[in-house]
Amino acid sequence: MADISTDVLIIGTGPAGSATAALLSTYGIENMAVNRYRWLANTPRAHITNQRAMEVLRDLGPEVEKEAYLHGTHQDLMGENIFCTSLAGEEIGRMKSWGKHPLSRAEHQLSSPSHMNDLPQTFMEPILFKTACSRGTQARMSTQYLRHEQDPDGVTTTCLDRLTNREFTIRSKYLVGADGGNSLVAEHAGLPFEGKMGVAGSMNILFRADLSKYVAHRPSVLYWVMQPGSNVGGIGMGLVRMVRPWNEWLIVWGYDINEPAPEVDAAMATKVARDLVGDPELEIELLSANTWTVNNMYATHLQNGRVFCMGDAVHRHPPSNGLGSNTSIQDGFNLAWKLAMVVKGQAGPGLLDSYSVERAPIAKQIVTRANQSIEEFGPIFKALGLLDSIDPVKMQQNMDARCDDTAEAEAQREAIRQAIAFKVYEFDAHGVEMNQRYASDAIVTDGQPEPPFEKDRELHYQPTTWPGARLPHVWLYDDAGEKVSSLDLAGKGRFTVLTGIGGQGWVEAARTVGAELGIDIATHVIGPRQRWQDFTGDWARAREVRDGGVVLTRPDQHVAWRSEAMVADPAAELRRVLTQILAR
Ligand code: FDA
Repeated sequence: MADISTDVLIIGTGPAGSATAALLSTYGIENMAVNRYRWLANTPRAHITNQRAMEVLRDLGPEVEKEAYLHGTHQDLMGENIFCTSLAGEEIGRMKSWGKHPLSRAEHQLSSPSHMNDLPQTFMEPILFKTACSRGTQARMSTQYLRHEQDPDGVTTTCLDRLTNREFTIRSKYLVGADGGNSLVAEHAGLPFEGKMGVAGSMNILFRADLSKYVAHRPSVLYWVMQPGSNVGGIGMGLVRMVRPWNEWLIVWGYDINEPAPEVDAAMATKVARDLVGDPELEIELLSANTWTVNNMYATHLQNGRVFCMGDAVHRHPPSNGLGSNTSIQDGFNLAWKLAMVVKGQAGPGLLDSYSVERAPIAKQIVTRANQSIEEFGPIFKALGLLDSIDPVKMQQNMDARCDDTAEAEAQREAIRQAIAFKVYEFDAHGVEMNQRYASDAIVTDGQPEPPFEKDRELHYQPTTWPGARLPHVWLYDDAGEKVSSLDLAGKGRFTVLTGIGGQGWVEAARTVGAELGIDIATHVIGPRQRWQDFTGDWARAREVRDGGVVLTRPDQHVAWRSEAMVADPAAELRRVLTQILAR
C-alpha cells in the first residue's frame, strides 16, 4: 500500500512541471507536484518568452497572462541585439531581434493576441506554480524523487522527504518526469536518447550594477562582447544579458570543458564583468555564480507506458533562440489535456501515445536549431579575423583592418554585415517558435496535402487550418465593442467547433456527439448578427473552409480536423473524428 495517492504525479516544478500542474488543476484533475528543493528557480535562467508560451498562459486565464506582462520587460526594450568589443567600447554591429524590426513586429502582431516579452525564470515559475497550487495542485517541496515502478494499473514512486530524511511512496495513475536536464525519471523509464551531453562549458555570473549609460540608448536583452585573446569557449564569446533593465545582469562566459569547472569567486566575477563592460572601476554586487554545460541531446521517444517525460528532461540544448522554457511549457500544453481526458474516462489510453508522436519531433528540431545557432557565430568570428590567429595582437589588427580604405576592408565590412544579418535564425526565428504542426492519431486529415511553406519556415510563421497546425489567430468583434482572439474561443480544456452561417448543423452535431461521448464541446457560429463577428474578414481569409464548413480544434488549440463545407450527416462525421482522436 502506498503512503499517498494521486491521479498524476509530476516530478519537478520548473516551467514544464509547473505548467503541467497548472493545466491539470484547471482541467479538474487531481495532481501532485514535487521538487527536491524548498523553493523554485533561484537564478533567472530562461527569459525570452515567446508568443506560443504566452498563449498557454493566456489559456490559463487573462489574469495569468497579465501577471506575466506585469513582471516581464516589454518587447520594445528587447531587440537591439548588439555586437561590441565591450559595453563601453566599440560597437561592431547590431541586428534588430525578437520582433523589433517593424516588418517582424507586424508578423508578430498578426500571428497572436499575445506578445513576446522578457520574463526571467525567477518570475515565470512562481506565476505558474501559484496558479497550479491555487487551483488544486498538491505541492510537496524538499521532496526528492528516487525511483518508480509501474504495473498495468499505475505507478508507485518512491521519494525522499528531505526534511525528515524518510522515504515514502506515492501511487499515481500516471507519472510525469519534468525533472530537468539530468532527469532521473527519463533514465529510469529507459527513454532512448540521441546526441551528446557536455559539448562546452559555461558559467553564469549574476550581479547588480547600473549600466544604463552604456545601454539605455540601444535597449536589448543581449549584448555580445568579442574581445581578442579572451576565453572564447562555451557559448562562443562573452554575453552580457539584461535581467532587469538596466541594473541587474547575467554574464555568460565560457570555460574549457576539458578542464574541471572553475570556482567562480567574487574576484573572478568582478574581473570578467569589468572586462566585458569595459570599465576597470566598475563595482558589482555579485548575486550568484554557477557553471553549466552546453548539451546537444534529445529523446526520440517520450513515453514508457504510464510514464511521460517533458521539458529539459527530453530536450537538452544551449539557450540559443530562447527555446527551452518555452518548449517545456508547450510540452505541458500538449500532454495535460490528454491526461485529463483519459483520467476522466472521456478518452482511451491510446490518446496518450500521441504525446510522443507529436512532441518528439519538436524536441529534435529545437535541440538541432539551438546548437546550429551556436555554430552560426562562426562566420562573425571569421569575418572579424578572429579565427586566423591565436595571438591577441594579430586578432586585434585583423578586427581593426575593417576600418581601412581598401578593397579588402570593404569586402570584410560586407562579410561582417552578412554574418550578423544571418543571426536572424537565432534572434528573430518566428517560424521556429510558431510553426509547430502535428501528425498523429489525435489529428484527423481532411484529405488535403500539407500546405507548403511559402517563405523560410524557420523565420516566418505561416497560418493554416490544415489539421495538425495551431489555429490561426484573428480578432473577432461583437456589437458592444468587445473583441476576442479566435484562440480565445478555442482551448480551455475543451474541443471547439468553429463554423459560420449555414453551419448550424455542426453546432447541433456537437451537442449530440458531445452528449454521447460525455465531453463538453464549445461551439461558435461566426458571422453577421452572431455573438462574434468577422468585421475585418480576417477569419474568412484564415479559416480555409466555407461559411457552412467547420474547423474543430483540440484543447491545445491545434486543429483536430476540418470540413470544407456542410455534409449530409454532420453528427456522423464528428462522431467518426472524435472517436478516433479520443481512442474510443
Ligand atoms: P528545470 O530544470 O527548469 O526544472 C526541473 C525541476 O525538477 C526543478 O524543479 C528541480 O528542482 C526538479 N528536480 C530535478 N530532479 C529532481 C528530483 N530527483 N526530485 C525532485 N525534483 C527534482 N529557455 C527559454 O525558453 N528562453 C530563454 O531565454 C532561456 N535562456 C536560458 C539562459 C540560460 C543561461 C540557461 C542556463 C537556460 C536558458 N533557458 C532558456 C533554458 C531553460 O532554463 C530550461 O529549458 C528550462 O528551465 C527547462 O524547464 P524544465 O521545467 O524542463 O526543467
